[in-house]
Amino acid sequence: MMGKIKKKILITGIQGMLGQDLSQVFDSDYEVYGIDINPDTDKPRVFLADITQRKDLEALFLQIKPWMVIHGAAFTNVDLAESEQEQAKAVNVLGTENIAFLCQQYNAKLIFISTDYVFDGNKKTAYIETDKPYPLNYYGCSKLAAEQRVAACLTEYIIVRTSWLFGTKGKNFVKAIVNKARADGDLKVVNDQIGSPTYTLSLAQALFWLTKSVFQSESEQSSYGIYHVSNSGQCSWFEFAQAILELTGIKAKLEPVDSDYIARAAKRPKFSVMDKSRFEKITGKKLCLWKQALEQYLSQEKNQVVLPEE
Ligand SMILES: NC(=O)c1ccc[n+]([C@@H]2O[C@H](COP(=O)([O-])OP(=O)(O)OC[C@H]3O[C@@H](n4cnc5c(N)ncnc54)[C@H](OP(=O)(O)O)[C@@H]3O)[C@@H](O)[C@H]2O)c1
Repeated sequence: MMGKIKKKILITGIQGMLGQDLSQVFDSDYEVYGIDINPDTDKPRVFLADITQRKDLEALFLQIKPWMVIHGAAFTNVDLAESEQEQAKAVNVLGTENIAFLCQQYNAKLIFISTDYVFDGNKKTAYIETDKPYPLNYYGCSKLAAEQRVAACLTEYIIVRTSWLFGTKGKNFVKAIVNKARADGDLKVVNDQIGSPTYTLSLAQALFWLTKSVFQSESEQSSYGIYHVSNSGQCSWFEFAQAILELTGIKAKLEPVDSDYIARAAKRPKFSVMDKSRFEKITGKKLCLWKQALEQYLSQEKNQVVLPEE
């Protein structure tokens, strides 16, 4: 008997932390293609492409003809974006505009990954999708400008704002804390920025549910647009670090400090917790608490660098 033909999806930034988990999750139901600036071309259906180069992208769209694109490729170094604004703009704004334009030309649906850093953090309750964004740093500005280009270009799109990602396939806060705790056993971590840590595998699963609920059901056009998605609960970076040490059993001296104590090029919002009701209503799903997600992540990492030797 012939197998069912799978819809084609194209993931940009497939070599990144989120991209690799997306590839794994979507592979069950879709024919997954990927592009990246620095790809592992040994993998099938993965291509080298720079999203700032529209002509190169167009050739791939023509070849693949994706049903949907998940656009995760980005200039993600928040501090470096302050000094390399031109490059951050080229990748985050113009690159996203290229992707949105080609989705329009080739009639593909789009999920664009954005950030909680579009908000200034002055709110006292969780941000909803219609709250006015006001980014504090250049990275946030570039992602907001990208959101606006997507909305101007397309109808069938989803913008997912997410936060504080950690995943097994990339550099992240969990690995940084573990490495630093092991190296000098003395950590100072900011306690005045509150957000929601999010495991990339949880987020990939959430995007899979959103795809089914928004693009593959009888849902109305009103279900397009912005969604806030992160693991449940909230904490400061200090509390996140505390949980990492507690769950890994690594002994280290951990001290809470204010943001002003640690000099960083980019300003961050003090509070960027987001309300996920819209996502939960349309999918009927809720992502687990960030601490449970951290436990899942650590069990994935068990045989790698994170856990101390027994
Ligand atoms: N990390 C977070 O905490 C966080 C929070 C909120 C939202 N987000 C958003 O979530 C998405 C995924 O984040 P992530 O942390 O998984 O990012 P990541 O690991 O940095 O992955 C991004 C991927 O895109 C690639 N890329 C960069 N410039 C490109 C270009 N011009 N053309 C093609 N590919 C390019 C990167 O390659 P190189 O590594 O070689 O540059 C990398 O493989 C991003 O859109 C990010 O803005 C992230």
